[in-house]
Amino acid sequence: VKKIAVLTSGGDSQGMNAAVRAVVRSGLYHGLEVFAVQRGYAGLINDDIREMDLRSVGDIIQRGGTILQTARCKEFMTPEGQQLGADNLRKRGIDGLVVIGGDGSYQGANKLSKLGIKTMGLPGTIDNDIPFTDLTIGFDTAVSIVVDAINKIRDTMSSHERSSVVEVMGRHCGDIALYAGLASGAETILVPEVPFDLDEIASRMSENFALGKRHSIVIVAEGVGKGEDIAKGITDRNGIEPRVTVLGHIQRGGAPTHNDRILASNLGDFAVRKLIEGESGKGVGIIKGELVLTDIDKVVNSKKEFNMDLYELAKRLSQ
Ligand code: F6P
Repeated sequence: VKKIAVLTSGGDSQGMNAAVRAVVRSGLYHGLEVFAVQRGYAGLINDDIREMDLRSVGDIIQRGGTILQTARCKEFMTPEGQQLGADNLRKRGIDGLVVIGGDGSYQGANKLSKLGIKTMGLPGTIDNDIPFTDLTIGFDTAVSIVVDAINKIRDTMSSHERSSVVEVMGRHCGDIALYAGLASGAETILVPEVPFDLDEIASRMSENFALGKRHSIVIVAEGVGKGEDIAKGITDRNGIEPRVTVLGHIQRGGAPTHNDRILASNLGDFAVRKLIEGESGKGVGIIKGELVLTDIDKVVNSKKEFNMDLYELAKRLSQ
């Protein structure tokens, strides 16, 4: 490849800018011409494409959001939309594309690869729900934000001997709840991957308060349901009225952690080097510290394995 483009797609996540910077700077370092597509696949269809230089990605490594903006684009799901996108790249001589995003974004990259554009998918989502990578870009920052929020909530719960239900994001994946729950010492972690019994949770909560526990934090992954409903279920069973906090988009904003910046830098540079080597239709990831490539077909048709060991550990330590 001689000319490549980069876009961000789907929900934004912290570290996307660091990944854009890595793709642009690594491409230029290797003598490529590098372009950016604005607003994800919508920009590909609308021909919103511009050439990047070294300075165009200055002062962004520390910023949340994405300077390229992002969109969820229905038109690109049609064969005509995909063809138009590929034509807009090709008319500039662009034959490589790095897509930074989640599951849906990978599907688009896969389609373009079948139309002859060499594509690479970079896992950019707070959800950590992409298989064949231990981590996605933004997950570490999102977990830190949730842990910080729970630390604050816990202060008040302890002062007043009260209980709280905290609803976190993650779509169908419980990783944000699991990692943040373990790291903040939440008493109960509810994730879509593991069935739970509200009767048991409610009676354990009353017993714990009776035995002198000063607070009770229940963290609920949104894939399980609404925090409000869980809180009501608890009240119906034991009379305790937990306060509900829905953290929402706070989890997706703000400066990325150094871990996310380093991950984004590594994955962005790796994707460019692999495009230069002629690879296409691949997702990049990191497994046990090693950079890996996996067929996008395989990535989009697999499900990320839930870390049961970590879940059991959190349970053992939360008594
Ligand atoms: O995929 C990231 C994510 O924040 C999910 O955790 C959440 O379910 C979804 O996006 C929310 O989407 P939106 O910001 O469009 O409401």
